[in-house]
Amino acid sequence: MTPSRPAAVVVLAAGEGTRMRSATPKVLHRIGGRSLLGHAMAAARALEPQRLVVVVGHERDRVAAHVLEVDPDAVVADQDDVKGTGRAVACGLAALATAPAGTVVVTYGDVPLLEAATLRELVAAHGESGAAVTVLTAEVADPTGYGRVLRDAAGDVTAIVEHKDADEGQRAVREINSGIYAFDGAVLADALGRIGTDNAQGEMYLTDVLEIARADGRRVVAVRTTDVWQVEGVNDRVQLAALGEELNRRVLTAWMRAGVTVVDPAGTWVDVTVGLAPDVTLLPGTQLHGRTTVAGGATIGPDTTLLDCEVGPGADVVRTHGTGASIGAGADVGPFAYLRPGTVLGERGKIGTFVETKNATIGTGSKVPHLSYVGDAEIGAHSNIGASSVFVNYDGVHKARSTIGDHCRTGSDNMFVAPVTVGDGAYTGAGAVIRHDVPPGALSFSAAQQQIVEGWVERRRAGTPSAEAAARARAGTEGAEGARA
Ligand code: UD1
Ligand code: CA
Repeated sequence: MTPSRPAAVVVLAAGEGTRMRSATPKVLHRIGGRSLLGHAMAAARALEPQRLVVVVGHERDRVAAHVLEVDPDAVVADQDDVKGTGRAVACGLAALATAPAGTVVVTYGDVPLLEAATLRELVAAHGESGAAVTVLTAEVADPTGYGRVLRDAAGDVTAIVEHKDADEGQRAVREINSGIYAFDGAVLADALGRIGTDNAQGEMYLTDVLEIARADGRRVVAVRTTDVWQVEGVNDRVQLAALGEELNRRVLTAWMRAGVTVVDPAGTWVDVTVGLAPDVTLLPGTQLHGRTTVAGGATIGPDTTLLDCEVGPGADVVRTHGTGASIGAGADVGPFAYLRPGTVLGERGKIGTFVETKNATIGTGSKVPHLSYVGDAEIGAHSNIGASSVFVNYDGVHKARSTIGDHCRTGSDNMFVAPVTVGDGAYTGAGAVIRHDVPPGALSFSAAQQQIVEGWVERRRAGTPSAEAAARARAGTEGAEGARA
């Protein structure tokens, strides 16, 4: 066990978050592809604590379910009716079978940009100084609403006073309490048993622990971060958007440093869960979500949204909306393609303009270039599906699959009425409705014989521009025939 590994991290997430004005609990709102709480828990888990505790209260069932979905090994602790951060931490510790011996870190579920590295620095500084409490602080332009950090001449922390309890002199202090701390577990447990509610808000303040420790002759020190974003919490949707934007900026900056070209960082959104290789290019208006991965040399965008997609090396995905699709090496997609779950496009394959696909495998080098729907289908290698074709997969009750072989050339405007199989090397004619299997190498067509009714427009649509155009064309043809005669 590394010495910096804390005994426990307690993440506070019981507060109500009324300023979100939302039916969704605040900590479940999302930025960068994760809930606020998910970000906080990821940073906490990166410390490899022996126990990770999340304190829930408001909408406890929804939040608790989310906690266990994110991290099944986390401990959910319920806060009782007593309010305040001190009570929340006490409830968190009470949920553990044994009081944690060693360092206990406290963080907030609504502070999503806090990085594991910052927490590690806090824990390391805590260990080095031997202090009973180490608090993460920041100097901000407008400290209104925050607890202020009071220090002695040596720079040690003497107390944290809440804005509502502070006098004018204390309010002038711009160093604020982030609410993130490393505690000596025994000191914390002891002091929590001694805090009251004698303050402007009638709450049990966690910050009182610092004063108690100090009064007991222990040291309280501060680690001040210059990266204020990392300690910023979300209280309303304006802050949600601001922190979402900043997180995205940070994610893209890291990818650019890792060799990804991002043409328009302000108009490109990449979730923290996405994986990109060097020499990927992201064009303006690209949004990559979930477990999407993009291999080297691929270009995504402009105006493309991919969720849980896998893009192979050198592929080109233009103005596309994709979910749960796999795009092979060197493949071409779009512009204006809609890839639904279960789409698998092979190497150098093509899904072209105004094409929708679902549960469809399109083999190596095969192409569906224009205006088509491919649902529940298996297309082999090196086949071409003519423009404006539909895989008719649904009879109103059941869905069925169709299969097209290798090296097929199907005509434009074909309907493949599932389940149907077109054998290797087969051709189909334009406008065919394929209801029966086509053997390998056969030609199949089903469109009715073309009929011509001469002079119909001039007789039945007399006086229309069409009839006049027809008359001019006929006169021209007859004139030309007359001149030749
Ligand atoms: C607290 C600190 C303040 C600090 C500020 C930073 C105290 C007394 N004050 O302010 O010094 O500057 O954070 O944002 O600690 N929570 C619970 N249960 C509760 C109350 C809060 O779980 O009963 C959770 C909230 O969900 C939130 C976090 O604790 O994640 C902070 O709560 P909030 O009310 O925003 O903090 P303050 O008490 O105003
Ligand atoms: Ca807050």
